[in-house]
Amino acid sequence: MYKILKAELIADKIYLMDVEAPRIAKYCEPGQFIIAKIDEVGERIPLTICDFDREKGIVTIVFQTVGASTERMAELKEGDFFRDFTGPLGQASEFVKDDLEEVKKRKYLFVAGGVGTAPVYPQVKWMHEHGIDVDVIVGAKTKDLIILEKEMEAVAGNLYVTTDDGSYGRSGMVTAVIEDLVQNQSKKYDVCVAIGPVIMMKFVCLLTKKLELPTIVSMNPIMVDGTGMCGACRITVGDEVKFACVDGPEFDGHLVHFDEAMKRQQMYKTQEGQALLRLREGDTHKGNCK
Ligand code: NAD
Ligand code: FES
Repeated sequence: MYKILKAELIADKIYLMDVEAPRIAKYCEPGQFIIAKIDEVGERIPLTICDFDREKGIVTIVFQTVGASTERMAELKEGDFFRDFTGPLGQASEFVKDDLEEVKKRKYLFVAGGVGTAPVYPQVKWMHEHGIDVDVIVGAKTKDLIILEKEMEAVAGNLYVTTDDGSYGRSGMVTAVIEDLVQNQSKKYDVCVAIGPVIMMKFVCLLTKKLELPTIVSMNPIMVDGTGMCGACRITVGDEVKFACVDGPEFDGHLVHFDEAMKRQQMYKTQEGQALLRLREGDTHKGNCK
């Protein structure tokens, strides 16, 4: 059992929880995720790690209520418990494994969209802790949906906040800020890391391809087991089939088939769609997608 030490509503339908999980806090790295289960019968919910405190043994998660399971999760309060809290899962971000001196030579641009700001935060924090200044763009639909602004400000070299409706910061989507920084302000970047809704990552990648700026994205397809066994999180990267839970969640954004990923996400919503996926994908979709 994993105790919830803090549970807060940080924006409309977006919750932050601190969970007592010393083993995960000890070993997790930016880019990785956990799978939470409320009780014996509950669904397994994959969530990116927003922060961790190795000394206190705390892992911070941020989630948006999107269905029955996350609604139930939002009802949990400080002092309640998760039945399971499994992780760290997936691969750490590439820069964690790279030679630090090489990472220091690169100029990074982080692009966070909506709830995707949560998984971007530990990456920017890691950069800050290693003495690397990075530029960060945070985009949200409106002022009320911006999360973790103060936390991000404390670790980013430069922070650019934008809202689709112009109610706070700049006006427009994250792609408009990338264009402004690169084309009007002549900023030069070696790597872009973009995390947010799939549609955002798709359009960021279309732009960064034109700008010849290598881009990493974090894919969060539907996951079931989180161990590469069920095939639910299958995506196509270049001409290879990958499983986001074990091969990712981060991939070369210029190779990800975003349209297929979005279509699959839709198909998973119906039993008929799941049956069709099983039929089409055969061996790489092992049929446990209920
Ligand atoms: P949102 O729809 O409010 O979008 C956030 C920002 O992304 C927008 O403000 C805009 O700047 C940018 N954006 C959106 N569409 C764009 C487009 N077509 N072109 C350019 N920029 C665009 O985001 P939200 O409601 O917070 O997103 C929720 C989604 O994010 C869910 O589907 C959730 O699964 C996903 N999510 C993904 C991750 C991940 O790891 N990739 C993590 C958390 C949440
Ligand atoms: Fe990735 Fe099952 S969730 S294979």
